[in-house]
Amino acid sequence: MSEAQQIDLPITVRRMELEFPTSEQFDPLWAASNPTVSYFTLGLSLYLPYLEPYIIKALRSATHLVKDDDVLEKIDKFCRQEAQHYKQHEKFNVLIHKRDYPGLTEIEAQCKAEFDEWLDNKPMKYNVGFVEGFESYTTQGAVAALNSGALNSQNVDQKVADLFRWHLTEEIEHRTVAFDVYEHIYGDYGYRVKMCWIAQWHVLRFIMRCMNLMSRVDTLRYGPQYKVPVYMKSGAVAAALYQFAVTYMPNYSPHKLKISPAIHKLAERYSEKAISTQV
Ligand SMILES: [Fe+2]
Ligand SMILES: [Fe+2]
Repeated sequence: MSEAQQIDLPITVRRMELEFPTSEQFDPLWAASNPTVSYFTLGLSLYLPYLEPYIIKALRSATHLVKDDDVLEKIDKFCRQEAQHYKQHEKFNVLIHKRDYPGLTEIEAQCKAEFDEWLDNKPMKYNVGFVEGFESYTTQGAVAALNSGALNSQNVDQKVADLFRWHLTEEIEHRTVAFDVYEHIYGDYGYRVKMCWIAQWHVLRFIMRCMNLMSRVDTLRYGPQYKVPVYMKSGAVAAALYQFAVTYMPNYSPHKLKISPAIHKLAERYSEKAISTQV
């Protein structure tokens, strides 16, 4: 992997026409037959059509408190990128739902109800803090996943990988926006750490519930290769906890992140592949 540098990546709003596997082609073990990685990412995909509309509403509701035109412009691009993300994940998630996992829609409905309730009843600081907590975690995950090159492996379904590669690239492009909004309006370090903890556990708990459910159903239907071994599940949680911890440091800033030339190339590649782009 080429050396990471301080490269600027402009926030580019891309409209994509991604190709997904057919329902016959789609295998829940899409990622190198690795049940942990496969179900972890499917759980994340299921979360996004609830999370991303929430973060758009939360950040847009805070714009009247932002006095910096540059931050305001970036909020707009951030929201338009996130809107593209959840629309593509909604399309992809149809493939997951076609597999019919009893109990999955109840987990999703509970998640949606929580986000709706927070928008209605929690203070703006809570919602903006939640967005920053989630975004700081996804930045860590996106950098780790893209730099590992794991999505490019031959035994990974490249149609599914394309969805995640594009999405993770754009998460890196807009990595500083939620942080800057939070710092601009509140700048309260202790509260930020608290909200990182709440947001990061919220997504991890959702993913683990979906992973356990889907893996259990598929193991009964298709065989033991769909079972997530306990040691791998523990490893996934440990990796997430490490990424959480990075975001709690007093000197944490997404502005310090070094972007590898490979990620820069991915951004260019997806701009070429997009139906339309707006920088
Ligand atoms: Fe996103
Ligand atoms: Fe994001």
